[in-house]
Amino acid sequence: MKKLWGGRFQKSAEEWVDEFGASIHFDQELVFEDIEGSLAHVSMLAETGILTKEEADQITGGLEALKEKASKGELSFTVAQEDIHLNLEAFLIKEVGAVGGKLHTGRSRNDQVATDMHLYLKKQVKHIIGLIEAFQKAIVEKAEAHVETLAPGYTHLQRAQPISFGHHLMAYFWMLERDKERFQEGLKRTDVSPLGAGALAGTTFPIDRKVSAELLGFSGVYANSMDAVSDRDFILEFLSASSILMMHMSRLAEEMILWSSQEFQFIEMDDAFSTGSSIMPQKKNPDMAELIRGKTGRVYGHLFGLLTVLKGLPLAYNKDMQEDKEGMFDTVHTIIGSLKIFAGMVETMKVKVDRLEEAVHNDFSNATELADYLASKGIPFREAHEIVGKLVLHCIQSQCYLADLPLEELKAASEIIEEDIYQVLSPFEAVKRRKSLGGTGFEQVQLQISAARNLLNGKQPSKE
Ligand code: ARG
Repeated sequence: MKKLWGGRFQKSAEEWVDEFGASIHFDQELVFEDIEGSLAHVSMLAETGILTKEEADQITGGLEALKEKASKGELSFTVAQEDIHLNLEAFLIKEVGAVGGKLHTGRSRNDQVATDMHLYLKKQVKHIIGLIEAFQKAIVEKAEAHVETLAPGYTHLQRAQPISFGHHLMAYFWMLERDKERFQEGLKRTDVSPLGAGALAGTTFPIDRKVSAELLGFSGVYANSMDAVSDRDFILEFLSASSILMMHMSRLAEEMILWSSQEFQFIEMDDAFSTGSSIMPQKKNPDMAELIRGKTGRVYGHLFGLLTVLKGLPLAYNKDMQEDKEGMFDTVHTIIGSLKIFAGMVETMKVKVDRLEEAVHNDFSNATELADYLASKGIPFREAHEIVGKLVLHCIQSQCYLADLPLEELKAASEIIEEDIYQVLSPFEAVKRRKSLGGTGFEQVQLQISAARNLLNGKQPSKE
């Protein structure tokens, strides 16, 4: 088949070579953006008098017809037409005749493809931000139900201090809030139009880039045509924000996998997000959480892939840049899928309050309480630490916990200890007392939750 750019060529490439160079298998995902970009371009061509109104109307009609066909899945793209841009142009010419060939006036595939990518990401990122918010809402709701559910807090995966389980969950709300900000920040640089940059140098036609940019809903235009066609920073920023988001989801996935294990039994995942084993009838596996943890790898890979593609490229467009697409599409699909799964997984998980309670009581995570008690009565903290350390060792040797020791034994360690120590050692009291800003004290967790709800409802955080 003769190529749209075939004029200069005496011989065609073999099919398998075309196959290697083509991007239509994946860039057909840009079909609607490509049509949208063309519709704006042709309107601008008419407005500036580069095409007559009749020509523009014919082309617009043809593009609308293609949009209709595309939405019904009626366009069958071919490798012979290489990519989405050439496929659509060929369809257009078939639809409206030779006048279709005028659409490409004052434009190149280089500014065209960049425009498509900007439009695509702008739309997807807005959708992704909505999904992050839905996930945050699921977290806030679960956290609110468990403000007073005690749980062991860990450092080094060793029990450290008791915490509110709601507090633990809310930590993820704030990670997601930063993720959202990163996507929003990136949107600013996605919201810029490369259209009209031409192949690299602009064009001799009296185009008006601001007209097409405005028609496409872009807030501005690239100031430099070479930058416009070579810039993929906005995709890198997207991949980087996505990598950090995946890392956050992977950490929560890891926690939920641990928590739902026989060893912890802190939560039970809903059947809807678990699978069974083909051989072991008793098993309920947290497959979805594991998959999200696993998929984090491919998103990191896409970020590194594109950074590497771009690092040695001379200005302006190079075919290497066609490699920007699959990773971006895959990242969009991966994070959309993961966010949806996670919102459902958190919403439906059963928190085993009794198990958490038991875990908090049967351990030494109240040791800091005793040390703080001594320190508040004037003993230097370092000495208090030593005294409590010895008591813990004593307990381990006699197979009991701190609150099991009779007052005389505690007094033997330090005269200062009085009867009120037993209340101090209670994990509930220990959590309640942590009233410092952002701490796990119940009131603080409630405050966090209200601040989070305000953010989700679009209210600004208060300055206090
Ligand atoms: N399929 C190409 C890509 O995705 C479109 C731009 C092609 N431009 C060119 N000069 N060959 O990068």
